[in-house]
Amino acid sequence: MSPRSAAIIVAACLLHGCSEDSTPAGKSAAVPAAVATAAAPGLDDGNRVFEHWCLPCHAAGPGHPGTNRLAERLGTENSVLLDRENLNEAYVQTVVRNGFQMMPPFRPTEISDRELEALATFVVSGGGRRTAQGAKL
Ligand code: HEC
Repeated sequence: MSPRSAAIIVAACLLHGCSEDSTPAGKSAAVPAAVATAAAPGLDDGNRVFEHWCLPCHAAGPGHPGTNRLAERLGTENSVLLDRENLNEAYVQTVVRNGFQMMPPFRPTEISDRELEALATFVVSGGGRRTAQGAKL
């Protein structure tokens, strides 16, 4: 089974509920397009959200308030978000929703819950360079 059809089946299960009997592999072709587009968000979505909302403050190099402040408070080795190996998804989601000290919060109208999940995965994986558990890819 291709990763895409697996994702479609997972999405269908999330939307309609699933038992082993109700989703024989052959049925995936009948999943409507609307369900297919609801497949779990991936690294590309996380990348898009990160570039739009986070990169202006968290890119490497001078002139980025997030990077500067983290360098001051936690040291340069912890200043560039995508180079961090000590963040987890729950923490990233909490910081983004609530803000943290000098960082502003982001509302669901700006970053939806789905986008936030993809964003957290993207950040924790270092932009797709590591697994969520920190192993190098
Ligand atoms: C307006 C600038 C700004 C934007 C935009 C911004 N941040 Fe931040 N962020 C900061 C600052 C400043 C800090 C450091 C807060 C402090 O220590 O005072 C920070 C801290 C963080 C931390 C905490 C790191 C730690 O070690 O505790 C995370 C995680 C984070 N940002 C993620 C994000 C993500 C993901 C986005 C995109 C949705 C984002 N930030 C957008 C400015 C920003």
